[in-house]
Amino acid sequence: MKKSLTLASAMLLLVLRGSNFAHAAEPAPRSLYDRLGGAYPIAAVVDDFIESLQLNETLNANPAIKAARTRVPAAGLKFHVTTLVCQATGGPCKYVGRDMKTSHARLNISEKEWQVMLAEFRKSLDKFKVPAAEQRELVEIVNGTKKDIVTR
Ligand code: HEM
Repeated sequence: MKKSLTLASAMLLLVLRGSNFAHAAEPAPRSLYDRLGGAYPIAAVVDDFIESLQLNETLNANPAIKAARTRVPAAGLKFHVTTLVCQATGGPCKYVGRDMKTSHARLNISEKEWQVMLAEFRKSLDKFKVPAAEQRELVEIVNGTKKDIVTR
């Protein structure tokens, strides 16, 4: 009796090893949202980033950007961009703003202005000490919107 129990346990062990049980024990990979530290650090980066865009001379030289910037409250823009980044990085937020094509359609944004925006984004990421790997993932997400935003 004891012998057959031992054999049964050994067989069970073999089956479990080869099954998904072993994988089920592995922790799920952490979302970019979690690795960034959640909503507060994301909001802090977005706050700094939007502030620097508002002051940027190259961007303000574009009359369409300047007019929109003057008309749209910065706090609302920061809210929308924060929830968008939160959602895009796997966080629990729901972005409720307009799509990127519609919201930037009349801004006449050029390649040069896009590069200026990216440089400001990187400065904010560096300032808040976002690690290189997470920076790359964030820039990739932002670059995914370029085709809808750059129109000239
Ligand atoms: C050179 C690049 C960019 C410039 C100059 C720019 C500028 C602006 C301006 C002026 C507005 C307000 C438009 C309006 O309400 O009439 C706006 C809206 C917005 N932008 Fe950008 N943007 C740029 C890139 C981006 C990128 C890369 C993202 C996110 C990945 C983004 C996310 C948003 C969001 C979420 C809104 C609000 C949409 C809404 O009102 O429903 N923008 N942007």
